[in-house]
Amino acid sequence: MNNRRNFMKTSLVASAGLMAAVSSSMACPNTPKNIFAYSTANQGRWEGKAGSHAPVITQIDGKITIETKHGMANEHYIVKHSIITEEGEVLGENVFFPSDKKALSTYEIKGKHTKLYALSVCNLHDLWITEFSI
Ligand SMILES: [Fe+2]
Repeated sequence: MNNRRNFMKTSLVASAGLMAAVSSSMACPNTPKNIFAYSTANQGRWEGKAGSHAPVITQIDGKITIETKHGMANEHYIVKHSIITEEGEVLGENVFFPSDKKALSTYEIKGKHTKLYALSVCNLHDLWITEFSI
């Protein structure tokens, strides 16, 4: 019984260590700390999908618009947009439904920021990120 318990403990510790190593090695160089996301420069296993998944930022009259040029259908759609700071503070977010016509959201962000990140989540193709500043 003790051998089995020791084996289970060892396996759990080894698994946790492996997951931490995998997470840190997969981090994209252009993302805030502790967030893994694909980007135009780092499409990973979704090579060729940046055009329809990387968030596109437009700034007009102090308003920031995020668009993901992706279809919206029950089986495949953009789930959410967020804007976060380099420290991971969420400044705005918008949840979409498959019935929405577009993955388009608008935000008013106060002040100057040298590094902000727009995030877009696809239900099939994971999290995508675009860096920008205001
Ligand atoms: Fe997708």
